[in-house]
Amino acid sequence: MITIRDINIKDKKVLIRCDFNVPIINGKIQDDNRIVKSIPTIQYAIDNAYKVIIISHLGRIKTKDDMKKNSLKIVCDRLSKLLNIDIKFCTYEDDIKSEISKNKIVMLENIRFFDIDDKKESNNDEQLAKYLSSLCDVYINDAFGVSHRNAASTTGISQLVPSAIGFLMEEEINKLSELFNPKKPFVIILGGSKVSDKIGIISNLIDKVDKMVIVGAMAFTFLKAENIDIGKSIFDEDNLNYCKNLLNKYKDKIILPQDVYVSDNINSKNKILVDIENIPSNMMGLDIGEKTLDKITENIKDSKTIFLNGPAGAFENEVFSYGTKNLLSILYNTNAKVIIGGGDSASAAIKYGYKNKFYHISTGGGASLKFLEGKTLDGLKYIGE
Ligand code: 3PG
Repeated sequence: MITIRDINIKDKKVLIRCDFNVPIINGKIQDDNRIVKSIPTIQYAIDNAYKVIIISHLGRIKTKDDMKKNSLKIVCDRLSKLLNIDIKFCTYEDDIKSEISKNKIVMLENIRFFDIDDKKESNNDEQLAKYLSSLCDVYINDAFGVSHRNAASTTGISQLVPSAIGFLMEEEINKLSELFNPKKPFVIILGGSKVSDKIGIISNLIDKVDKMVIVGAMAFTFLKAENIDIGKSIFDEDNLNYCKNLLNKYKDKIILPQDVYVSDNINSKNKILVDIENIPSNMMGLDIGEKTLDKITENIKDSKTIFLNGPAGAFENEVFSYGTKNLLSILYNTNAKVIIGGGDSASAAIKYGYKNKFYHISTGGGASLKFLEGKTLDGLKYIGE
């Protein structure tokens, strides 16, 4: 794929689409990983291009109130600090073309503010894509995390101006692609809540893996498919048959929890550990236990490649973070190349101190899943090979 290295940006106005959709609580950025990882592309453009225009989305915009809560100004300030350079922040009341002519580097307000008007950004409105293309000579997509969306600032603009990918995108594509041809033994560990989110990746990778470990809430659909009494645990009725068929076909490959921490609700401060056959009827499973971790350790000890996507338990509540934390520690202590999918598992890895400690932690949740399903991401469709 054409990268920013391969396209002429000298004397050009370069518009870079980043994914700065970062968690912000009470005006504080909780994790700036996506911002930090965008720096090599932005710095390269600053050093080699005439002008740099940065765009991103933040959150989902449906109401005027969402607009107040999701300004990118705070991200612009953080990026300025990290780059040690002044970035001119433009709202849509500003004369943006004039600001571009006066400043070397400009960052636009949240591009999803256009969603307030008929979802123009998210529905890939042609006029919006044209407007964005009128601001630049070259378009760089470095927003891996949102490239599965068919948006004006991803797919639309790339059809209208010479386009390439940035370094963050290149790294994501190269490292995630290794999973299509992995060094074996290859193990994937899937967690999180919904089986439906993972069907595509299971179908695409099951024949390549040596073992597939299922943890997190999605494990309860598999356990129910095995006729295990799961008490009040959540499960996905619609995919029960899918899980049954998969278990029939790949019995020796699929590893399910042996024991779980249960409680009466996800916000509880109390938990008890039970073997998987003994889940009380009035309780739900919220985390995995020691026996499950031992079983995982035994099955991954000789692996050369491991992919983790999804947390092992409801780790947002510290009470149920045991499995997620310990699983990360077990993975860290293997000799395997470990790749962590974005979204919740990436947040957990960063939260528990593994930011730069694995071979790759993806910046994209939905995007990494779609990529690993073997599908072309919408935002990359029109960028040449
Ligand atoms: C993400 O955080 O997964 C991306 O930024 C995409 O955000 P979205 O799900 O709101 O499109």
